[in-house]
Amino acid sequence: MRIKYLSHFVITVFGIFAVLFSTAQNRSISQKADSVCKLMTLEEKIGQMNQYNDDWNATGPLTLDNDKAGQIQLGQVGSMLNCVGTARTRKWQEIAMRSRLKIPLLFGQDVVHGFKTTFPIPLAEACSWDMDAIRLSARIAATEASAAGIHWTFAPMVDIARDPRWGRVMEGAGEDPFLGSAIAAARVKGFQGEGLGKLNAVMACVKHFAAYGAAIGGRDYNSVDMSNRLLWEVYLPPFKAAAAAGAATFMNSFNDLNGVPATGNRYLQRDILKGKWGFKGFVVSDWGSIGEMINHGNVKNEYEAALSAITAGCDMDMESRNYKHTLVQLVKDKKVPMALIDEAVKRILQKKFEMGLFDDPYRFCDAARETKELNDPAHATIARQIAAKSIVLLKNENMPGQTNPILPLSKQTHSIAFIGPLVKALKQNKGFWDVEVPGVDSNFIVSQWEGVKNKLGADTKLLYAKGCDIEGDNKDGFAEAVAVAQQADVVILSIGERRDMSGEAKSRSNINIPGVQEDLLKVLLATGKPVVVLINAGRPLVFNYTADHAPAIMYTWWLGSEAGNAIADVLFGDVNPSAKLPISFPRNEGQIPIYYSHFNTGRPATSDTNRNYNSSYNDLSIFPKYEFGFGLSYTKFEYSHLQLSSKKMKASDQLELSFELTNTGKMVGDEVVQLYLRDRVGSICRPVSELKGFDKIKLNPGETRTIRFTLTKELLSFYNDQLNWVAEPGEFELMIGASSRDIRLKDQFELIK
Ligand code: NOJ
Repeated sequence: MRIKYLSHFVITVFGIFAVLFSTAQNRSISQKADSVCKLMTLEEKIGQMNQYNDDWNATGPLTLDNDKAGQIQLGQVGSMLNCVGTARTRKWQEIAMRSRLKIPLLFGQDVVHGFKTTFPIPLAEACSWDMDAIRLSARIAATEASAAGIHWTFAPMVDIARDPRWGRVMEGAGEDPFLGSAIAAARVKGFQGEGLGKLNAVMACVKHFAAYGAAIGGRDYNSVDMSNRLLWEVYLPPFKAAAAAGAATFMNSFNDLNGVPATGNRYLQRDILKGKWGFKGFVVSDWGSIGEMINHGNVKNEYEAALSAITAGCDMDMESRNYKHTLVQLVKDKKVPMALIDEAVKRILQKKFEMGLFDDPYRFCDAARETKELNDPAHATIARQIAAKSIVLLKNENMPGQTNPILPLSKQTHSIAFIGPLVKALKQNKGFWDVEVPGVDSNFIVSQWEGVKNKLGADTKLLYAKGCDIEGDNKDGFAEAVAVAQQADVVILSIGERRDMSGEAKSRSNINIPGVQEDLLKVLLATGKPVVVLINAGRPLVFNYTADHAPAIMYTWWLGSEAGNAIADVLFGDVNPSAKLPISFPRNEGQIPIYYSHFNTGRPATSDTNRNYNSSYNDLSIFPKYEFGFGLSYTKFEYSHLQLSSKKMKASDQLELSFELTNTGKMVGDEVVQLYLRDRVGSICRPVSELKGFDKIKLNPGETRTIRFTLTKELLSFYNDQLNWVAEPGEFELMIGASSRDIRLKDQFELIK
């Protein structure tokens, strides 16, 4: 035991000693938290519920506070965010160790898709449908972050998002609750590793609870209005899965839900999360969201805001200082019972105990370990593999006048023109929510140019022209780009958004490819050269011209530190693309929200040719440009021989299904097989199809594998009008597909009583 825990006051010395002694006695963490809580003054308790930003690197509107150190020393701060690196975290922790009770600080950080090693943005990584890969990237992020002093990541973001105008669509796993739940659990497990207390585990923080992704009009921070059925059926499942996976903490959200701000929403935090789901961790507010309830018009002032938040179950105040300003008075006024404060404080202290911080507040401040983990070359190798798994091949037509597709490109190609504003970009490839790590060059990135260059031998000429900027209407660079294209056998054009055009507060009403980039494509296509387009973005963009005219398109999102190498791996066929979209791509903004699991309606539109009094647009297709689950490969897969163990299933039974998958092409490849169900008749209308299973299968050319799924009552259930989780007897359609529209095999069965 470390002597520095001992307090200056005899009574406290005795109390703390009792707590520490109890460690040896292996008392439960909850008892230990209880014992510490008993020693605390009300002000110290409120201090634990108070989180401050460091002096820089704000990820929200900053409150300038010149006396953080003084407040920490008085025990008035329980946690800090945006302090990165062992030197910095040690500095603050040393100040906390000068406080009366020496309760260690928790350091939180948005480690959203990597720390020093940047992985693909979460939406891109979701395209891999590869839970092991997703878990591994979170594991590496946690290993690096924990070595640099971080205890707690504000991730995963598990908000279902069906509106690509919303900039934060990049942070999640897309539109679907089934896929989203699997990814949420994988990310939590990745961050938390073998469990809190391990040196390389960070606490996950599941956010934003809840329904933040359904902001009206796709405008960030906007209101959300939705039925309870939709909330439970679509928006809550990933949160539930993350809680079940053992997530240590939750973050509430900026939006109001049906008129009640999520931060002050008792139904969400106390009834559902801490009640029904039995969540034992703590809930942190979003940045300033307690105070923002005044703007929402739901409370009058800070006093009422704090009352509302703590009553609703929000345990920690990120940066609004409302708890600090008003909780003492609220307790004195008997508006907030001490039991509520104690509950919040104990939840927070328990996590500090679980992280081992009471045993050693500096255990994550080891500079030697920091250097070692931040320089582990294996991390880059894995980042490259995961980035390649995240690239979605959208189109791959044949070479002009030939029978072979443009991609993969031959490494023996005589000359390649690599054109576009993103070819030589460095930091852009990181996307939004990268971490600035002290002492690390934030341009520590393999550019697309470098990646392609690395792939080619001396016999291939690689030519470059920028062509244009990402934004603006300047076409001065077109002539040079055309001249360069004319000298080449093939053109690769890298276009898209700026990395900070998606992310927090980055909603856009126009999600076209910005500027004159598609005009650049037009002039390049006019040269008659085959053009491969790389689209870099943090969201589904609208790019109809490109989609309809470019012969080959790879959606590369933002792939992180190894972007260039990963892109080159796929371009030249060292990796066969296998990614599938986790979100529908609209044809234009007028189709939004667009998602595959919609209801049939009373007047369903099933084609674009019949628009006669049915649920269609008069001026636009009802179908997305690219559907959920879509993505091409360099090989071909055939699906056959669907078999069901029975055509009838009792709720207490299981139904086994199998089919055969064959790689009929010439390259080894992975296929994401997708199982969809449609419940034909429900007491609540059921979607036309719902993802209920998937698997990623690697096959050699010519190889056939039998794929099996098991259907259980759980997979046939939904929330009825009483919000009971039920499976109603009746007929179900079963669809096996390569995407939500590309259904290859079908059958049906009946659920019987
Ligand atoms: C606000 C964002 O909504 C949240 O996701 C993030 O974790 C905090 N800022 C802290 O940066």
